[in-house]
Amino acid sequence: MKYAASLVRSHVGGRIAELRAEALSRGIPVVDDETLNFLILMLSAARPARILEIGTAVGLSAAAMLSHCPQAHLTTIELEEELWREAKRNLGELGFSGRSTCHLGDAGEILPMMEGPFDFIFLDGPKAQYERYLPDLKRLLPSGGVLFADDVLLYGWVSGEKPTPPKRRSIVGKIRGYLAAVTADPELVTSVLDVGDGVALSVRIERNQT
Ligand SMILES: C[S@@+](CC[C@H](N)C(=O)[O-])C[C@H]1O[C@@H](n2cnc3c(N)ncnc32)[C@H](O)[C@@H]1O
Repeated sequence: MKYAASLVRSHVGGRIAELRAEALSRGIPVVDDETLNFLILMLSAARPARILEIGTAVGLSAAAMLSHCPQAHLTTIELEEELWREAKRNLGELGFSGRSTCHLGDAGEILPMMEGPFDFIFLDGPKAQYERYLPDLKRLLPSGGVLFADDVLLYGWVSGEKPTPPKRRSIVGKIRGYLAAVTADPELVTSVLDVGDGVALSVRIERNQT
């Protein structure tokens, strides 16, 4: 049985918590409490030096990651110009300008041009593109690097626990494709966890470890 999200203690405070409340009140999709808590837990264990995020929105998860990883640099990609501007402003006001690089554009076009390594990747952009991004994400991820993909269970539709509304069958099929790819990949060890709306947590391993 899943713990109620309300039992998860928030590990963001002050201006980041305010930003989160503002984003939610404007209908901007930001990481939920349970997932944010788990993300912070994983970052605290992995202690990455270089973080990559796909899907910045207003910079909420970016700010939370930077505040919990004081030595890390974060690179993040956002498609919507207005959100990108707002994220840059928010990260600047929080004192994170020097430790963040915000790219404006389509992750599908930017990722192939990027150079790694990134030892922690938070994949929180367009769900339908996760599988398409995978070869580049793997290229950017060193051995031991963590790939944290959010929203992979989509209200129980992906697991089949709840029937998928006809209009959502395409996205559900694409997320299933991503999960099939990461779980079958001999260079990744993956667990799909019932955290928030579903997290696929993958760690890159050396091929000869399998
Ligand atoms: C779930 S929101 C990200 C929330 C953010 N990570 C947080 O928790 O604060 C997903 C974001 O991905 C952006 N996005 C959608 N398609 C994209 C694309 N092709 N490339 C980059 N970003 C994209 C959306 O504009 C949206 O802001």
